[in-house]
Amino acid sequence: MKKSKKQKKILFVSSEVYPFAKSGGLADVSLGLPKALLPMFDISIMMPMYSSIDKDRFDIVHTGISFEILLGKKKHLVELFSTSYEGIKCYFIDTRILCAKKSLYGTPEKGYKDNDLRFGLFSKAVIAFIKQSVEPYDLLHLNDWQSALCALFLKEDSSIKTKCVYTIHNLAYQGVFEKKALSRLGLSSSYFNMESLEFYGDMNFMKAGIAYADVITTVSPNYAKEILTPEFGCGLEGFLAKHQNKTVGILNGIDISNFSPKTDTALENNYDSKSYDKKYKNKQSYLKERDIKNTQRPLFIFIGRFTWQKGIDLLVKELDKISTMKLNIAILGNGEKKYSKQIKSISSKHKNINFYFGYDEELSRRMYASADFMLMPSLFEPCGLNQLIAMNYGTIPIVNSVGGLKDSVNSIDDFDSKNMSGFGICFEKKKPKALIKAIKKALELYKDKERLNKINLHNMECDFSWDRGAKAYATIYNSLVEKR
Ligand code: GLC
Repeated sequence: MKKSKKQKKILFVSSEVYPFAKSGGLADVSLGLPKALLPMFDISIMMPMYSSIDKDRFDIVHTGISFEILLGKKKHLVELFSTSYEGIKCYFIDTRILCAKKSLYGTPEKGYKDNDLRFGLFSKAVIAFIKQSVEPYDLLHLNDWQSALCALFLKEDSSIKTKCVYTIHNLAYQGVFEKKALSRLGLSSSYFNMESLEFYGDMNFMKAGIAYADVITTVSPNYAKEILTPEFGCGLEGFLAKHQNKTVGILNGIDISNFSPKTDTALENNYDSKSYDKKYKNKQSYLKERDIKNTQRPLFIFIGRFTWQKGIDLLVKELDKISTMKLNIAILGNGEKKYSKQIKSISSKHKNINFYFGYDEELSRRMYASADFMLMPSLFEPCGLNQLIAMNYGTIPIVNSVGGLKDSVNSIDDFDSKNMSGFGICFEKKKPKALIKAIKKALELYKDKERLNKINLHNMECDFSWDRGAKAYATIYNSLVEKR
């Protein structure tokens, strides 16, 4: 019998993974992408063992492995836990300063003071883990600033031959700390220069990923271009330009076994493009549940974190005006207090603005399955997953054409003439009254039910899965590992 070829061994490192811990889209990608890569690679996931994770619910057990890590002058005990989730081996790093906090990173306004130590320790523990592994890892896939230092620790240790891919999900969060973080982490001061970790007199974690990874990816091709400009580069545009040759943009997908209106267990009525009319039933019961009147009106939704990135300022500014239109709006989310307050106060004035404060995964799914339109006025959006979920659930996204929104949502103006996947209403935030105009366009479309349905049915049959993206990552993994 022919012996099957051994698969390459990959460790996917992330500070959040759905369903264990989630603050945003990173968590969804950190499950969806490894899952899609599983048939091609021996891939496992590694994340922190936050105290908020329910060990019993996920059958998370001690591996029997523990080690000590020296950080600056202090030794930290690290315990390793694991479980298997949807066929993927998941490892969890447990060490007191990293895990014993209330939330993952701090409040929406401010990160924990010792996040440098927490995620420096996390990154060091990842490297210690791969070093003790009997069968060596071929490649580490790192994500965002929280695991970026792994790239530096890898380069420091010439005995490890593991290759390294670094993915930027959001350049707005770089992990910037005072210079003293360097000595707190026991890093040599020789790293404190422009080509390495120094950033306007501070220390920048993300720069380690950019400088020392073998390949950098961003979560959409358009964002890969945008980050080279002062408008979107968040101060790193020059540094990224230097590393442009090893940078690739790959559009995220969604885990369609998880996000499909046909199988989603959160929905009262499952549906697909052939039974699209059932969506209307979902809408009616959702409106009833949330006590929203005028049920024949189009339902617009907004789901997301309340932070400036998501275009909340624009939304808040226009909400009074929008409420005078013949529509209903449902908003779900939480985040910065000032925004929550503003939205709460506006929604209390208008019956057709319904506000649910918090993060409720099931409710969000019922909203996708009930809505006619979804608002995404993001100022910048590295990829965005909500627009993909919306289209998959037969809901038209209304987007500011930036980042991955530009790559994934084509204007309905081109629907009849161009053969593309994914259509929605696109606007450019920079143009005056752009959001209002886009909403008016949606109201027009709502009147033309035949066209609206045609677009939705087309969207629902498009492929937003990870298939294409996973192939692109597989090509990168293979080319790097073969080079060894
Ligand atoms: C971040 C980005 C978002 C992206 C997600 C997953 O949350 O802001 O645009 O979709 O990461 O990559």
